[in-house]
Amino acid sequence: MTLEKIVNYAKLTGYIYQGSEIYGGLSNTWDYGPLGSLLKQNLKDAWLKRFVTESPYNVLLDSSILLNKTVWDASGHLSGFSDPLTECRNCHTRHRADHLIASYDKTLNVDELSKEELYQILTTKKIKCPVCGQSDWTEIRQFNLMFKTNQGPVESDLNTVYLRPETAQGIFINFKNILRTTRKKIPFGVCQIGKAFRNEITPGNFIFRTREFEQMELEFFCQPTTELKWFDYWLEEMKSFLFDLGITEQNIDYHQHSEKELSHYSNKTIDILYRFPWGFDELWGIASRTDYDLKAHQEKSGQALDYLDPETNQNYIPYVVEPSLGVERLLLAVLLEGYREEKLSDGKTRTLLKIHPFLAPYKVAVLPLIRNKHQEKSEEVFKQLAKHFPTVYDETQTIGRRYRRQDQIGTPFAVTIDDETLINNTVTVRERDSMAQVRLEIEPAIEYIKARIKF
Ligand code: GAP
Repeated sequence: MTLEKIVNYAKLTGYIYQGSEIYGGLSNTWDYGPLGSLLKQNLKDAWLKRFVTESPYNVLLDSSILLNKTVWDASGHLSGFSDPLTECRNCHTRHRADHLIASYDKTLNVDELSKEELYQILTTKKIKCPVCGQSDWTEIRQFNLMFKTNQGPVESDLNTVYLRPETAQGIFINFKNILRTTRKKIPFGVCQIGKAFRNEITPGNFIFRTREFEQMELEFFCQPTTELKWFDYWLEEMKSFLFDLGITEQNIDYHQHSEKELSHYSNKTIDILYRFPWGFDELWGIASRTDYDLKAHQEKSGQALDYLDPETNQNYIPYVVEPSLGVERLLLAVLLEGYREEKLSDGKTRTLLKIHPFLAPYKVAVLPLIRNKHQEKSEEVFKQLAKHFPTVYDETQTIGRRYRRQDQIGTPFAVTIDDETLINNTVTVRERDSMAQVRLEIEPAIEYIKARIKF
């Protein structure tokens, strides 16, 4: 499976378009078309269902993208949220030094190297610029990834605000509000889905690394010393979520951060990696963040962010375990996992998107066998089905072509209306993966489909 193939597939079908296309595009921006936007929504719904509504522990939050700038001072983002930047003196393109070295020598763990060590490798190994082929690098400087703007009509330091680079901080600063307004006791978690922005030096690999993306994050608050037990618990939940969505175990790997790699706030971090076309790369991270964030916000804000355990009367700042997942990375993994080109018995090939029915943009396609004869009844059936699940109607070209079209976009069921439907109100329900058909009356057909699209 190549990245090019999935990019072309996504554009052709209306899953994902290039951003600002009619103006020549804006590099590394992507728009989600009629199918992509529904798939994205379904991924978020699946995560919400699993991590919020079905969880005995977690609640949901929707905090602002713009936060008081002291938040980013307390969290360490203003001073430390940066990547190592180097510039090619020959063609003046800018690159991430760690990425240049990682593509040169895959055995090196670049996250363990200081900027001085990175520079030394760049120069002694004479690593070439991927744009012009020369090897003449400037010294490395740390480049802060936060997007900066002004709140209000006056441009001044006093009005500086940042687009959030993660949703997590909005959760930490609302910790006391949530404690006060819910009946939650520790351990409990707060989930959030929302946009995050990072001025990445080298975005790329389609939707894998972009400057605007969405995160689904959980900050799970627990008693100190219990954090590693909860770490294991949430790691298992993350794995089950991925496997239940149809991600296969063979395409998953794990990377535990070494002492040197760990962020300043973490005492344990594991990345779940997915086998993308360029190799295994980070899909979902889980970090034990200790009490770093709540402590830092308590100090900067002067507000108490501790917790009084009602049973033990113990007072402490909770520890935090954080699974953090990018919506677009999950969407890319789901497309890669589901895309098939299948040889049929008649020698032809069908393109198939074998995704979990819960994720499919449309659950069912209503197809009149012969347009002139079956159109009226088909429109009636469409209305009935569309009340229960996202339904698409298609009456153009042969029935075989219409089945192929639905297979290609991942629609798990096709309901065909023919002469028999007009006589006894039965339809054929064709299943995408097996292509098997059953004949059912309309109400039982609705129940049949409902039972098979559950997550
Ligand atoms: N709050 C912790 C945090 O933000 P992170 O590892 O920087 O941790 C979490 O990001 C997840 O967000 C990643 O595992 C990835 O899925 C997604 N992500 C991060 N940067 C991204 C980018 N530039 N484009 C798309 N997704 C990104």
